[in-house]
Amino acid sequence: MKAVVCRAYGLAGLGLEEVEAPHPGDAEVLLRVRAAALNALDWHLLRGTPFAARLFFGLRRPRTTRPGRDVAGVVEAVGAKVTRFAPGDAVFGSCRGAFAESALAAEKSLTPLPAGVPFEQAAALPVAGLTALQGLRDAGRLRSGQQVLVHGAGGGVGTFAVQIARALGAEVTAATRAESLETMRALGAVRVLDHEREDFTASGERWDLIFDCYSHHPLSACRRALKPGGRYVAAGGPFPSLTSILVDALARSALSLFGSRKLLSILARSSPGDLALLGEWVAEGKLRPVVDLRFGLAAVPGAIRDLAEGRARGKIVVVP
Ligand SMILES: NC(=O)c1ccc[n+]([C@@H]2O[C@H](COP(=O)([O-])OP(=O)(O)OC[C@H]3O[C@@H](n4cnc5c(N)ncnc54)[C@H](OP(=O)(O)O)[C@@H]3O)[C@@H](O)[C@H]2O)c1
Repeated sequence: MKAVVCRAYGLAGLGLEEVEAPHPGDAEVLLRVRAAALNALDWHLLRGTPFAARLFFGLRRPRTTRPGRDVAGVVEAVGAKVTRFAPGDAVFGSCRGAFAESALAAEKSLTPLPAGVPFEQAAALPVAGLTALQGLRDAGRLRSGQQVLVHGAGGGVGTFAVQIARALGAEVTAATRAESLETMRALGAVRVLDHEREDFTASGERWDLIFDCYSHHPLSACRRALKPGGRYVAAGGPFPSLTSILVDALARSALSLFGSRKLLSILARSSPGDLALLGEWVAEGKLRPVVDLRFGLAAVPGAIRDLAEGRARGKIVVVP
C-alpha cells in the first residue's frame, strides 16, 4: 500500500513510499482510509519543534515515521479483542499514520460515523473539534447567554470554536483576518473583528470568555478584556521554544491567583463520547467542518507547507 513516510525532520524528509500493509494487534482496528486531516501537531512532529520535544520524539530523526492522526474510513480487519467494530463499519477518530491507504487505530480511539456524514467532514473533526469543544465547555465553562470572543478564528480550531460556542448558546465575536470575516458571519458570529486592524485587548470591550487560537497578546491585557468572573483559554500560539511555553503557563497561573478572572490553557484529550457528540452535531447540521483544501497523498508535503505558512482557512483534508 502507499503511505507518506517521514525519514528525517523537516518537509524534505517526507516522501510517498510503497510499504507493507499493517496487521491489527489484539485491541486494534485496520482501516481503509477514506479521508485524513492535517493538524498543527503534524507539522510540529515533522519539524521536531519545540526542539526540546525531540527528547521524546527522537533526537536525530523522528521516532514515528508515519504522520497523520485524524482519520475517517472503513474497517478492513479487527484484532481478536475488538468488540465494538466489524469489517465494513464506517468510523472516524485518531490513528497512527493517517496519510496512507490503510492505517491502524486503537479501538478506543474510534467512533462510529453517523449516517449521512461524509468521510471528509468526519476526518476534520477529531483534534480541532475536540480542542474547541473541551476548551469552551470544560476549561472555559461556557454557559448559554454568555459573550465569547474567539481570536484567530479562521483556522481549524477557530472555525469549530465559533460554531460550537454558538451551539452552546453563546453570543460570539470572531477575530480573524479580513479574508475570513464573511465566513465567520456565515458560521454564526454576531460580530467580527479584523485582528490585523483591531486589537481586541485595546477596544475597551469585555467578554465572559476569550478563546485564543493564537495567544500572542500580553496576558495582562487579555485579563483586562475579561468581565469579572471571566475566563481566558489559550489553545495555541507562536511559541518558539519549550521555555516560552513554560513561562506563559507560569504567567497564566500567577495572574489567576488573585481576583475572579482566570487564565488557562487547553490540552485536548481523546474522548469517544465527545467525538460522538461532534459527529451528531454534524449530522444534525449544527456544526459544519470548514474544509478549505483537499490533497492526494503525493501532495501531503505541500499541504503541510500550506498549513505551516498559514495559507489554509479551516481544515486541510487528504484523500488517498
Ligand atoms: N492545545 C491543544 O490541545 C491543541 C490542539 C490543536 C491545536 N492546538 C494549537 O492551536 C493553534 C491553532 O490550531 P489550528 O489547528 O487552528 O491551526 P491552523 O488551522 O493552522 O490555524 C492557525 C491559526 O493561527 C491564527 N493566526 C496566525 N497568525 C496570526 C496572527 N498574527 N494573529 C492572530 N492569529 C493568527 C489564525 O487565525 P486567522 O486565520 O483567524 O487569522 C488561525 O486561527 C495552533 O497553535 C495549534 O498548535 C492546540
